[in-house]
Amino acid sequence: MQPARLRCEYLTDPVGVDARSPRLSWELVESDPSHRGAAQSAYRITVRRLDRDAQAQRPTTGAGKQGAPHAARSTAAPGAIVWDSGKVSSPQCAHVACGGKDLAPCGAYAWRVRVWDESGAPSEWSPEARWTMGLAQEGPRSLPRFCWAGPRLSETWNELESAPSPYLRKSFTLTAPARRAVLFASALGLYEARLNGSRVGDALLTPEWTDYRIKVQYQGYDVTGMVREGENAIAAVLGPGWYAGQLGMGHHFLGITRGFYGRIPRFAAYLLVELADGTETVVTTDASWSYTTDGPIRGADILDGETYDARREIDGWDQPGFDDTGWKQVSVVTGPRMVAQAAEPIRITQDIAPVSMTQPAPGTWVFDMGQNMVGWVRLAVQGLAGTDVRIRHAEVLTDDGMLYRDNLRLEAARPHAGARQEDHFICGGGESVFEPHFTYHGFRYVEVTGLERAPASWSLVGRVLHSDAPEAGSFECGNPVLNRLMAAIQWTQRGNMLGIPTDCPQRDERLGWAGDITAFGQTAIFNRDMAAFLARWLRDLRDAQTADGRVPDFAPHPYDSDMRFSGNPGWADAAVLVPWRLYQAYGDTRVLEEAFDSARRWVEFSLRQNPDLIWRDHGTCTPLYYGDWLNADTFVDIPGLPRKGGEVPKEIYATAFFALSTQTLARMAGVLGRTQDEATYGALARRIRAAFMRAFVTKDGRIKGDTQAGYALALNFDLLPVGLRRKAAARMVAALKPYKGAPSTGIVSTVPLMKELVRWGYVEEAYRLLNRREMPSWIYMLEHGGTTMWERWDGWVEGRGFQNPRMNSFNHYAIGSVGEWMWRVIGGINPDDAAPGAESFIIAPRPGDALSWAKATHRTMHGPLSVEWRLEDGSFALRITIPPNTSATVIIPGATASDVTEAGLPLARSPGVKVLPRRPEGCALRVEAGLYSFVASPRSFAATRRRTG
Ligand code: BGC
Repeated sequence: MQPARLRCEYLTDPVGVDARSPRLSWELVESDPSHRGAAQSAYRITVRRLDRDAQAQRPTTGAGKQGAPHAARSTAAPGAIVWDSGKVSSPQCAHVACGGKDLAPCGAYAWRVRVWDESGAPSEWSPEARWTMGLAQEGPRSLPRFCWAGPRLSETWNELESAPSPYLRKSFTLTAPARRAVLFASALGLYEARLNGSRVGDALLTPEWTDYRIKVQYQGYDVTGMVREGENAIAAVLGPGWYAGQLGMGHHFLGITRGFYGRIPRFAAYLLVELADGTETVVTTDASWSYTTDGPIRGADILDGETYDARREIDGWDQPGFDDTGWKQVSVVTGPRMVAQAAEPIRITQDIAPVSMTQPAPGTWVFDMGQNMVGWVRLAVQGLAGTDVRIRHAEVLTDDGMLYRDNLRLEAARPHAGARQEDHFICGGGESVFEPHFTYHGFRYVEVTGLERAPASWSLVGRVLHSDAPEAGSFECGNPVLNRLMAAIQWTQRGNMLGIPTDCPQRDERLGWAGDITAFGQTAIFNRDMAAFLARWLRDLRDAQTADGRVPDFAPHPYDSDMRFSGNPGWADAAVLVPWRLYQAYGDTRVLEEAFDSARRWVEFSLRQNPDLIWRDHGTCTPLYYGDWLNADTFVDIPGLPRKGGEVPKEIYATAFFALSTQTLARMAGVLGRTQDEATYGALARRIRAAFMRAFVTKDGRIKGDTQAGYALALNFDLLPVGLRRKAAARMVAALKPYKGAPSTGIVSTVPLMKELVRWGYVEEAYRLLNRREMPSWIYMLEHGGTTMWERWDGWVEGRGFQNPRMNSFNHYAIGSVGEWMWRVIGGINPDDAAPGAESFIIAPRPGDALSWAKATHRTMHGPLSVEWRLEDGSFALRITIPPNTSATVIIPGATASDVTEAGLPLARSPGVKVLPRRPEGCALRVEAGLYSFVASPRSFAATRRRTG
């Protein structure tokens, strides 16, 4: 067994770590496929300092005039071991806090680990991994207070149009070759940093969106190979971004176009160079930098797009030796608190070629990317200097083949409202390639006008960008349509993870809606490693919690969360439910520690508002809670379906969340060893459940409103006494009838419905919903042009056309939370809630419909876990791999232990397998880590299918 995939704070070799004692994790790889029960019994970690020891250096600030590079003698040699854990007897392979004391700001560390297996045999040492600490908050190795450099005046400010981008630069000299160079950079606005003519790193839209009144993230880059002895140039170009540009819904609710946090983009940088001669040079942003706004980016906005004028390109502006006479001197001001970016950056992860090109009107070229995607396009053009090439983006086409832009919320009366999603490229003459910098678009179709001649189809490439959280698995099954559905869900996830989890990527909204990610969170976790991304976003959520405990409906919250958009059940509960999910998936107790106080304040707020324990509409404080958003009652003109009666009454919905969050808070308290809180909130949760029963549930299990959603939520949140559950499940199934077997559920209750159908034995009913082709259904979306999930079930309907264009995105993940169901039920992979952090899984595939095979792999904290099942001639074959340090409960559907073999042997003779008492769904086994091949005899499996079907 070998340790592999070493990560620090979930990231591979991160540069810029704020955590004082960074946590180290590794996976375990067992190379012998026949070995069972592989487990770590001990580990040893060593950490070595790579840079020179700052303790041994003289202070490096204050030397020379402001802004001049300064140097100090170093005496300590790099390479010293700063922490040796010694051999620690423990199975822990995730979140081991580095025990090295006083890790130095900007210090670089290398670490390795070796492990001992369950028999005490040691592994080799792993290869070394690295991390670099972030900046200090103050003192040496921190940015000076006045470091935010930008244009001097707001002369270029205009609320209606984005201003030209500032280009900033500075030359500096290194007296010797660099041994190590690290750059920490950030902006109020967006930046692209450059060193000696080259782009630094590949992160985009940095520093991403936070509430800049509270904090701004900085990014770290190893730039050792980019600097050289002699003269160097450091430079940056800025865009307004979320800081000074337009923000979702600003127009609609505040009447403000842009400049929510500030007007002038600014840059902050700290470049630390360790020289081969033992000295150190630091370059920071200060008044010695110069800038111009006469560069090619004439305007850039997240929602509107970018205008690039190639005639204004400035040769060599980011190179040493450039003559910047005529450039102005920057002004420097103080800025907000800085935090290291603790998650994967936004990057381009894929390029896609268009599948077709049409000319629906003379001179208007429309490219179909074949996929609703998020990012921008790169366009190669040839044009006379001054030719304005316009590139517009949309998700769908109208009947005449032109872009459908109505759902971008553009308004004739208010020309600056909406998201224009329009880039302009003003040609410089000759051939050139255009790509924007400080915007992003949600689109499948790209319209290009202004070209002198027809473009070649290869001239345009779609560049897909999103937060680059690593893929966490793969899913495939015997039904190609379901594979397309999973792919569409995954595309939707990618397109809506841009620094924060957004609702949509196209219209002027793009906000971090908390209800959507609460619904979609587990699907997201199955698809990608969301640990760092979501833990970071939760901090944004808490940043906007009000003093009285209301959690915002979205985060960051650029508006006043005391006034609007906060405290909505199902949305605010993200503060409790999302950390809990992360803990379940990654075993991360720090997430719970960070979340506990805020989660408690939300539950306490709910209690103060609702002392009789039933959530009611309270007007001003929580003006209108969304409820089970976009349920069947919101359908427009759909003949054959009831017009009302699909929506679960809001009090039921909200009280259900009140109970769930309170119960979850009690569990959190239990994990954190807060016994008093555990008892208090456990008791409160019981009282809420009792109040729920009294207010809404009859003795024979009928829930007020008689909706699918009401039953689904009550069952899924465990609000009903044992004796009523089966009856409630039967009523839930009966509630499908008025809808002719369709779901009437909204974004919150659809997956609870799917899960509870399976839990109560209605497996075929659940598959029927999944495979349904008529509206409302997932397949309807796919069969009507969808390559991502739609915001609304009835976003577009045959015969009727589009839903209300003011709220009709075709790239919205919430309804796609059925992905979780597919991973669990088809893939058979279920995290074991009783043993978080991949300690144990429940492997329980539930074949249904005509599905004959599925294959799913999920990367856990301990390593990849895989499940593959196949129905052949009526027999059920299940092949699973459980990573070291993990065990699993396996349920073989419909089987009895005596009908099952493993690797051709009866179960009793199979090492690592323990037979458990049979469950109603099938034969239950407990297995240790390893690879297993089970086969269940045809007789038993066929019998179960009859029973549950
Ligand atoms: C967003 C949703 C969000 C909702 C809140 C919409 O405009 O797009 O996804 O959750 O508002 O009700």
